[in-house]
Amino acid sequence: MPSLTVNSDNLRERVREAILSQKRPTVTVLSSLLAIQDEVGYIPDEAVEEVAVSMGTSTNSVFGVASFYPNFRFKPPGDHSVEVCWGPTCHLLGAAKIVKEVLDELGLESEGETADGGASFRFNTCLGACSQGPVISLDHELYGKVNVENISSLLKSLLEQPKE
Ligand code: FES
Repeated sequence: MPSLTVNSDNLRERVREAILSQKRPTVTVLSSLLAIQDEVGYIPDEAVEEVAVSMGTSTNSVFGVASFYPNFRFKPPGDHSVEVCWGPTCHLLGAAKIVKEVLDELGLESEGETADGGASFRFNTCLGACSQGPVISLDHELYGKVNVENISSLLKSLLEQPKE
């Protein structure tokens, strides 16, 4: 199918550009993967191949590095990001109920992307606003003192917005 080829070529081109545009004295497999994730949002198969070629190593080695670090993701992120703080303060202030409500609203069991790709859900160990707990982050904007009653409307207005 021609459109898939175009998309794949375009993705590979963005990956190459991310590798080549690194402005640092030492370019490594790790720095290249970080640059690609910044540019594309995740590490597609094409990235592993292109980093292997540019670093003169094997795809197995590149994948070994990528899979070692939990912050690398291998699937495209959802259109919007949803994070619930699971830090000690938010936990004491009721984060467990917030997590359950958010997961129910998104139709998820745990971290991941919704079936329609509309959102990615992640836990966060501290969003840096403990006095406002429980805290959630929607497209990197913080909402404090949230409760189960307002989660639904917050998520609804988030998902109605254009892609982040
Ligand atoms: S523990 Fe939740 S914002 Fe710090």
